[in-house]
Order: sequence, then structure tokens, then C-alpha cells
Amino acid sequence: MRSFKNILVTGGAGFIGSHVVRRLTNKYPETNIVNLDLLTYAGNLENISDIEHSENYAFVKGNICDRDLLINLFKKHNFDAVVHLAAESHVDRSIANPGAFLETNILGTAALLEVAKAHWIHENGAFKNAETGSTNHNLKNVFYHISTDEVYGSLGEEGLFSETTSYDPRSPYSASKASSDHIARAYHHTYGMPIVISNCSNNYGANQFPEKLIPLMIKNICDQKSLPVYGQGLNVRDWLYVEDHANAIDLILHQGASGSTYNIGGLNEWSNIDLVKYLIQVVDEKLQRPKGSSDGLITFVKDRAGHDHRYAIDASKIERELGWKPSETFEVGLEKTVTWYLENSEWLNKVVSGEYEKYYEQHYGK
Ligand code: NAD
Ligand code: DAU
Repeated sequence: MRSFKNILVTGGAGFIGSHVVRRLTNKYPETNIVNLDLLTYAGNLENISDIEHSENYAFVKGNICDRDLLINLFKKHNFDAVVHLAAESHVDRSIANPGAFLETNILGTAALLEVAKAHWIHENGAFKNAETGSTNHNLKNVFYHISTDEVYGSLGEEGLFSETTSYDPRSPYSASKASSDHIARAYHHTYGMPIVISNCSNNYGANQFPEKLIPLMIKNICDQKSLPVYGQGLNVRDWLYVEDHANAIDLILHQGASGSTYNIGGLNEWSNIDLVKYLIQVVDEKLQRPKGSSDGLITFVKDRAGHDHRYAIDASKIERELGWKPSETFEVGLEKTVTWYLENSEWLNKVVSGEYEKYYEQHYGK
């Protein structure tokens, strides 16, 4: 088991990142956590307001593409690990406007890798023995790149993605994530840099921006607005509770083998239409509405361009090697998620109206 003194987390004001930053800050009080986030529309500091005064936590607003900023942060904090979550993450936005995805997900990841590599070689020496070419298994440092199952493409009715499935990304988002996975892997093979990568399925839980399926549907059922189901709603996704993902990230960071990839999934496949019907049931019940009262809101709309049919994960490697498996049932995880959204309608209204820029200014100045 590795331990770290100073960890750089990127994207820690976003959905998954906020759960990861909270976990690391609270669980490892001896480790300093620096959260670097650009606070795009998808990130806001209220997601992690409960830890903002923790002694071992600091926030920096900035862009992972900004090399000078990265170099200064590495000099100042001497990070021994990077947990890289910052990304443009929404497939529909990548179809409408791929540019930001290419910049942040590819060039931003490349900048982080290069700055971390230079800093660690400067501090600790080369990762590979210059004469023999063998990798020095330097467990002092880890660069952990968080990725997605979408890099593997689309499945038919059968089969699962394993760590050896060939890459076949099909949207600008998944292509940008696949590129960054390849670059990270190339840094391990070429320079011997200690890299771990994980590829996870669809997450759900508190603090997810309401453009993704589950929070969007919860919000619209509450507001009695139409529920836009792409195509016929027959596409299948595997859903994992975000805390289970944060737990897997914690394990991989501290125990994952350098140079390894781990697939993470929920063993929990749902077609979109069945999931939307289930959500209607849960939300209506919570709001004490008569059964079926929101069924008529379902609206089949034009399909997503290039819509991947099915994702499903073989997560046996992480279970075998690190003892991880999902601990939350979908029934309970979804119930908690719906309750969180019902109790945080103010958060919902603020994120959709861009109110959180004001929160940053009040706490950190312009
Ligand atoms: P998110 O969109 O909720 O959050 C992304 C965060 O990154 C935001 O806080 C944003 O401000 C920040 N960010 C964006 N561009 C930045 C930049 N240039 N510099 C610094 N910060 C920047 O994303 P998420 O859903 O929490 O996903 C986090 C990571 O996990 C991503 O890498 C994503 O590809 C991956 N992932 C997500 C899922 C999922 O279901 N959401 C599943 C598997 C993998
Ligand atoms: O698989 C992991 C990926 O899951 C992550 O890498 C991405 O960051 C994350 O956004 C998610 O991608 P998806 O495209 O699967 O998630 P989304 O919530 O956008 O859509 C889930 C499914 O629901 C998908 O088949 C499209 C469909 N959908 C989505 C929306 C927003 C609808 O039918 N209607 C909608 O309004």
C-alpha cells in the first residue's frame, strides 16, 4: 500500500471529483490535497463546501492546459501523486462542440503528464535505468488517469468490456478520452512513468449536473416537464453509484499496479426507457403522487448522433486484485440520489442558472 504526502486532484469541483476529494481529504488527514479545477459550468465549490476549511485541503482555480501554472504548482507542493479527473464529460456537448473536448481532455492531459514527468525525474531520477532499459519500480509517485468505458465503443446484446478489449471510440468525447488513455500509457511504456488508468461505466449520485440522464429526468419529473428519451430508449447503460466509484479510485490510487488498467462497473444494466419508467415510479412515490401520474411525460425524441447501443463491464480484475466490488444496490443508491435532488432544489436551480460563479467570487475574490 502506497502513502502520499501531497496529492494533486484535478476536476475536484465536478461530480465524481467532489466525491473523490472529500474522501481523500477526510480519510487521509496526513496527506495534503490540492484541488485544481477551472470551474466550468460543470464544476462548483459548493459541491465540496463541507471540506473547504480542512487543514489538509486547498483549492486552486485554473486550467490543466496551463503549463506554467502546473509547473509552479508542482514546485510549490511537490506532489507525489496526481489523480486526474478534470475533463469535458458530456457526450451531447462533444457532438455539438468538440473543440473544448480536444483541448481539455487531450492537450490538458498531455500537459499534466509532461509536467509531472519532468518534476518527478528532476526530484527522483529517471523512471527507467538508462543502461538496461528496465523500469525502476518507483512507487513514490503515481499518475492516475480516470477514464471511461466509452473508449471501448459499443456492444451488441451480448458480451462485456474487459481490460483487453480493443479501443473503438465513436463520439468526440470518447475519442478524446481514448487519446488521453493512449498518451498516458505511452508515458509508461516509453519513459517508465508510474501510471494507472481506470475505465468506468455510468455514474449516478448527488451533485451530478442535470444534463446527464438521471438528474435531468429527476428534475423534469419533479417539474412535470417532458422526459426526452433518445430514439426508442433501447440503448443500455451500466450504472454505478458514485461513492462506489470513489472507493475504487481510492483503492487503485493506493494499491493499483503501476502500468495497469482496471475496469470498474456496477453489474447493473438498464435500458434507458426502463430506467426512466423506474425513476418515474420512485420520484412520484416520494412526492406522494398517484401511481403512473408522470407516465405521460415520456417523449421519444430524435436519437443522439452515433448513439452507442450498449456498454457493460467485466469488473473481475479489480475484484480479484484489489477486492473491490460495488457495495450499493441500485434500489438504495437511486433512492438516496432522488432524495438528495429533492432536498437540494436550490443547488439544482443554481447550477442551471450559472449562479455558482458568484459563490466563487464571495469565497475567493474575482
Ligand atoms: P464533470 O463534468 O461533472 O466534472 C468535470 C470537472 O472538471 C468540473 O469541475 C470542471 O470544472 C473541471 N474542468 C473541466 N475542464 C477543465 C480544465 N481545462 N482545467 C481544469 N478543470 C477543468 O465530470 P464527471 O462526470 O465528474 O467526470 C469526471 C471524470 O470521470 C472525467 O474524466 C470523465 O471522463 C470520467 N468518467 C465519468 C463518468 C460519469 O459517468 N460521469 C464515468 C466514467 C468516467
Ligand atoms: O459510460 C461512462 C460515460 O457515461 C461517461 O464517460 C460520461 O462522462 C457520462 O456522461 C456518461 O455518458 P452517457 O452518454 O452514457 O450518459 P448520458 O447521461 O448523457 O446518457 C445516458 C443514456 O441516456 C444514453 O444512452 C443517452 C440517453 N439519454 C440521455 C439524455 C441526456 C436520453 O435518452 N435522453 C437524454 O435527455
